[in-house]
Amino acid sequence: MISRKLHVILLSSFLLVVATGPLSANEVKSGYEYIKPATRAMQDDDFENPGMFTVERGMELFNEKQHGASKACSDCHGIDGLKMDTKSIARYPVYNEEEAGIVTLQKSISNCRNNIGNKALPTNHPDLIALETFVRNRAFGETVNVQTDGPMAQLLTKGKTIYQTRYGLIDMSCSHCHSLYPGQMIRGQKISQGQGNGFPAYRLDIGEITNLHQRIQQCLTLMRAEPFAADSEEIKLLGLYLMSRSNGLKIETPAVRY
Ligand code: HEC
Ligand code: HEC
Repeated sequence: MISRKLHVILLSSFLLVVATGPLSANEVKSGYEYIKPATRAMQDDDFENPGMFTVERGMELFNEKQHGASKACSDCHGIDGLKMDTKSIARYPVYNEEEAGIVTLQKSISNCRNNIGNKALPTNHPDLIALETFVRNRAFGETVNVQTDGPMAQLLTKGKTIYQTRYGLIDMSCSHCHSLYPGQMIRGQKISQGQGNGFPAYRLDIGEITNLHQRIQQCLTLMRAEPFAADSEEIKLLGLYLMSRSNGLKIETPAVRY
């Protein structure tokens, strides 16, 4: 816990303007609404959008039989993934009975990859991120539709608790910035609602495609907190909660963000 004085200094150095008031619960807005017009134009133009390189790389991996594999993804899911059910992709992350837990889109892809004899890759390996970006892009324009009832209900409660917990040297929660201060400026950027509908997204700041879990880790680093590890229960719960907040928004993958 840091002193109240330091907290105030850190907070005021972050937030240049004082919040006007809490966001009303039913006003769900994509990060797209908060970015600069030039960034929006870049996202909207397939030739300008740097995330499209990753979509194309994912498509190549999808259509090719990888070394050691018995099949290509396209053998079952159609050339260019045209037989994939985009409504089903829009429901990720999903609850899996067998694993009694949350399964992300990347994990589903990884499971399928391993089933056809590919060497298992670590979470967030560039090939997995490329496939994740490609598959999610297949569902571009589809409405995010994460399950919120049944076994998901209590997982969402846990995710929300993490979202509202203060972390790091700045002693703030995700909720402070993304539910209380959207629209306020921080280091020249407008704070958004921290929605997940654009991910994987291309980040101009770091020049890399970034999935939702990685973006969460980057915000924790910004908060001067120890980021939750890849595959940790915390990051899965937080990723699930963020994506459920995006229910009703259109999938924008690959979004372009600062
Ligand atoms: C041998 C056929 C086969 C191959 C090859 C295959 N898959 Fe699958 N895949 C399946 C089946 C069957 C399912 C389960 C479908 C279901 O649950 O409705 C599935 C499910 C998925 C899902 C989840 C979709 C959903 O509706 O939840 C994704 C994503 C996926 N596969 C991606 C891939 C990728 C990427 C590759 C290549 C690395 C691949 N698959 C290779 C048969 C295959
Ligand atoms: C000190 C303020 C602050 C805190 C606290 C914070 N973030 Fe962020 N976050 C930002 C800023 C600034 C950005 C970049 C602009 C934007 O999209 O909001 C951002 C971006 C994001 C985005 C990307 C949104 C998009 O559409 O591209 C996500 C997701 C996100 N944060 C999640 C989180 C989570 C989860 C936490 C808690 C672990 C958190 N943030 C805590 C300031 C914060």
